[in-house]
Amino acid sequence: MMILLSLHCLFAENDYSTKSDWLLETKGDEQKFKAIQRQLRGFDLAMVEVGYRFNTFYFALKDKNYKLAHYQWDKIRKSMENGIERRPKRKDNSKRMFLDTQYRSMSEALDQKSEKSIWQEYE
Ligand code: HEM
Repeated sequence: MMILLSLHCLFAENDYSTKSDWLLETKGDEQKFKAIQRQLRGFDLAMVEVGYRFNTFYFALKDKNYKLAHYQWDKIRKSMENGIERRPKRKDNSKRMFLDTQYRSMSEALDQKSEKSIWQEYE
């Protein structure tokens, strides 16, 4: 049964190739763009990047490495903006919850390199 299942997976007919040129070998522009859209995903994938960078941001703050912290903070913004491009319905909440609020106040605290304001903002 498992062997049959594996063979089915290996030889199943689909739009994808198992070769590295899977996109080049996907037929037709529309299919190619659909494949790219699927791979780029939505806001959920932006959140994975946000989560990863937020973790690094936290440890950079602990190390007082404000240059790295600021870099990660700005990449979090970039990741959310790109996520909004893919999922425009997330725009209002993103602005209200982060881009127009916490992002700005933390950026100011980082610019000032003020440990007190940074941790106040963090909380
Ligand atoms: C700085 C930290 C974070 C901020 C400011 C943030 C902010 C947001 C905002 C504004 C939305 C859109 C809400 C809406 O319009 O309904 C959202 C959605 C979401 N967030 Fe986060 N988030 C953060 C971290 C995370 C983390 C660490 C995860 C988990 C890995 C996560 C998972 C999600 C998921 C799954 C969605 C829904 C995505 C979708 O279905 O389109 N977020 N977040």
